[in-house]
Amino acid sequence: MTNMKVRVMDHPLIQHKLAFIRDVNTTPKEFRELVEEVSMLMAYEVTRDLPLEDVKVQTPLEMANCKVTSGKALGIVPILRAGLGMVAGMLRLVPNAKVGHIGVYRDHDTLKPVEYYCKLPADAPERQIIVCDPMLATGGSANMAINFIKERGVKNIKLMCLIAAPEGVRAVNEKHPDVEIFVAAVDSHLNEHAYIVPGLGDAGDRLFGTK
Ligand code: PRP
Ligand code: URA
Repeated sequence: MTNMKVRVMDHPLIQHKLAFIRDVNTTPKEFRELVEEVSMLMAYEVTRDLPLEDVKVQTPLEMANCKVTSGKALGIVPILRAGLGMVAGMLRLVPNAKVGHIGVYRDHDTLKPVEYYCKLPADAPERQIIVCDPMLATGGSANMAINFIKERGVKNIKLMCLIAAPEGVRAVNEKHPDVEIFVAAVDSHLNEHAYIVPGLGDAGDRLFGTK
């Protein structure tokens, strides 16, 4: 963990569910449900510094001074396709967040990211944007997605992943030192195909049953 700026969420419930997510015998249905649940638990901590505004609420007894998240608080941006699996869990906590999409895939031969889609909320620059993707391997996809988002004027960006390789954390730290990274685990290393070891395999294929 030296030379890495990353928040590892070691809450027992997150770690427990992650063990089942990794398990090769977990079915796509269970995998989807677990990714959704872990994303919801992680979102709780990732959104800790959301801006609040004061409101007055009439209780049955009197007026109370309360706080609610301010209107244009949050944007969730999954990296297609595997990031889609994290959106529903996050929306359960912050149902009014807007959702953008960025399409990036890793070319199987070069292992370099290729962008194919980008649609962000029009008011994205006014929001805190949480980029989500289950896997941070080489960091190429996340760095490309963050570049696109910054090019569109967004300043406040966080990255939320389930499993990272040290190589991916370092790559994002280097290119985007302002972006805080939240993960459930930092694994050992990348194999020769740039898969995270021990990891969970191909997150997109396991979510959508495409293999
Ligand atoms: C996976 C994963 C990340 C990327 C991580 O997506 O969901 O987006 O690989 O690798 P990197 O850090 O080396 O860029 P993939 O390219 O397999 O596309 P998919 O989600 O469409 O399956
Ligand atoms: N993408 C995945 O889905 N899994 C990995 O281990 C690396 C990249």
